Amino acid sequence: MTTVLYIDCCIREEQSRTRKLAEAFLTALSQRDEIALNRLTLMDEPLVPFTGGFFRQREELIAAGEFSHPRFRYARQFQQADRIVIAAPFWDLSFPALLKIYLENVNVQGITFDCNEQNGCFGICKAEKMLFLTTRGGALEGNPMDNGTKYLRDMATFFGIPAFEHIAADGLDLGIEPVETILSRAIERAKELATSF
Ligand SMILES: Cc1cc2nc3c(=O)[nH]c(=O)nc-3n(C[C@H](O)[C@H](O)[C@H](O)COP(=O)(O)O)c2cc1C
Repeated sequence: MTTVLYIDCCIREEQSRTRKLAEAFLTALSQRDEIALNRLTLMDEPLVPFTGGFFRQREELIAAGEFSHPRFRYARQFQQADRIVIAAPFWDLSFPALLKIYLENVNVQGITFDCNEQNGCFGICKAEKMLFLTTRGGALEGNPMDNGTKYLRDMATFFGIPAFEHIAADGLDLGIEPVETILSRAIERAKELATSF
């Protein structure tokens, strides 16, 4: 089996165009018998920023090598997946803060990455591929101000995931082309990718 971890950060949930794109991809992906899909809906998780004792607890557990602690469950789940799919809208030139908080929980030295004197830091995640699905109000494809795609691509590299792809429905709020036309184009690309992802 190929385990796929789907990370849903589509804050607007039922109204989210990003989620429509992601669900089309997942429906196509689920046609393949070898796929085992694990869904993680970030809006349903108790994710809070690291402060005070909650931050200190993390440092102490890592120092003690207590990686089986429940608070590291996101990192363990992420590390073990064969494929990672992230869906999040373009917000404030990046993605929603909730996804950053999730990634802070996933970045655990000893679970998803490690460091040594010889190699510096290196990823130890199992996944071979990461896919980022997004929609944007403006036309940002290929624009250096699209920090969301750039950051997630860099994180994939950091985690040791060799292949990163993204599909974006771009310019949805510009009123130049109908939303459905742009979204359908992205959905077709996503369905095509689902056959080989
Ligand atoms: C809080 C917030 C911030 C946004 N920031 C940007 C932005 O910086 N640039 C942009 O082009 N669109 C921005 N948008 C528009 C969204 O990228 C666009 O509407 C997207 O399709 C929303 O995805 P959703 O339908 O999945 O929620 C923002 C929307 C919201 C709600």
